[in-house]
Amino acid sequence: MSILIKNGRVITSSEDRMVDVYADSETITRIEENIDPSTLPDDTQIIDARNRYVFPGFIDPHVHIHLPFMGTNAIDDHESATKAALAGGTTSIIEMICPGPDDEPAAAYGQWSELAKAGACCDWSFHLGIVRFDDLAQRQVRDLVEHHGVRSFKIFLAYKGALDISDENLFKLMRLAKELDIVITAHCENAEAVDAMQQALVSEGKSGPEWHEPSRPRSVEVDGVNHLCTFAELTGARIYIVHTSCGDAVARAMAAQAAGVDVIVESVVPHLVLDSSWAQRGDFEGAKYVMSPPLRDPEEHDRLWEAIESRHVSTIGTDHAPFNFIGQKDMGRDAFTRIPNGIPSIQERVDLVHTYGVCAGRIDLQTMVNSCSTQAARTFGMYPRKGEIAIGSDADLVIYDPTHETPFCESDSLSRVDYCGYEGMERRGRAEVVVLRGRVVAREGQYVGDDAGGREIQRDFSTSAPS
Ligand code: URP
Ligand code: ZN
Ligand code: ZN
Repeated sequence: MSILIKNGRVITSSEDRMVDVYADSETITRIEENIDPSTLPDDTQIIDARNRYVFPGFIDPHVHIHLPFMGTNAIDDHESATKAALAGGTTSIIEMICPGPDDEPAAAYGQWSELAKAGACCDWSFHLGIVRFDDLAQRQVRDLVEHHGVRSFKIFLAYKGALDISDENLFKLMRLAKELDIVITAHCENAEAVDAMQQALVSEGKSGPEWHEPSRPRSVEVDGVNHLCTFAELTGARIYIVHTSCGDAVARAMAAQAAGVDVIVESVVPHLVLDSSWAQRGDFEGAKYVMSPPLRDPEEHDRLWEAIESRHVSTIGTDHAPFNFIGQKDMGRDAFTRIPNGIPSIQERVDLVHTYGVCAGRIDLQTMVNSCSTQAARTFGMYPRKGEIAIGSDADLVIYDPTHETPFCESDSLSRVDYCGYEGMERRGRAEVVVLRGRVVAREGQYVGDDAGGREIQRDFSTSAPS
């Protein structure tokens, strides 16, 4: 089976041109002006992309699907989350494996792999969460890297007593990561400070979702970034700071980079379009907007978009972490400290970046592709197979209609979560046709592919580096 995308405006992180794209089976084999269909096999599927953008498949480098967390489990499974991803134009994801403090890394890796194999409809990879790190865990982690394709770790400086890592283990892990040439992705907030602030606020009767942000202010995040950068400077490890929510945290990372630290910065869409006032909504609705680091003042949007535009922030992910409002978020009615953290965004990310980034004049289309696809591929060893439209790349393509206008709405979501964090907000643009390795898998927001048609991505740093 082959596919020809004709008459589209092909936009990558470095080019913007009117060319046709042809894929023989799973791989792009021709990119030319005006490919003549009569030269192609009879069964070639032809898609007219006139007045449409043709993007490389988008990559979400930060999602949670199977997530046992704060006394409950995130509500999506691999099938629902990846169908939602594809409907929104995301053809590859990297999921965080988040074991608990007693879980062995090898068992966690096996469990998450089985779940993804059984259900994932888009292509996937993992960041291996490191929580337990005793001698047995260290041996298993090394084995997972050397023999099972693990190419990035995830650590939490936050979530005291649940997921956080001690400084002793952080240092050991960073030395191992440097030795094995592995990226460490990190949630940077000072866990002790957050815990102390939470206890103080709740004891004063400040227990609603609006107190979540004051319990973990920007300074707590900047301190976490600083801490991680210090350890990276000492060990030489490459670090990737996830869900950076404010300009000060980006600035701290950039200062470390200027001093020689190998640091890459991610933002996630909730921090780019929502602000702390959403977590202040009445009737406990603010709980829908509790995530960590928290939503900040609206002024931070400008600082983050500017950093994306200047490419100091390399990637835009989602931190998709779907917990129902009814039955999960409401576990924290008596204290915001028990509201499961997270905002679902896996389906909405691309349209949010197009609407509030490109259409708002904050970034151009090439920067959109760079931050939502190409840099994730480069950073995590998937480039140029993913994140690019080039001969030899996987035929992961998004035919995007920039003129489509409908507001975000929960009823359009393929995720299982019971609310849309962006309900009623303006949406400009839509992934009209989504192609995964040469097959059409989504059309106009609906999944039309095979079940469990995703594949694990083989990652290789020898061909791919951040730029
Ligand atoms: O609030 C968030 N971010 N929830 C998911 C877990 C994490 O910290 O990434
Ligand atoms: Zn996090
Ligand atoms: Zn996360």
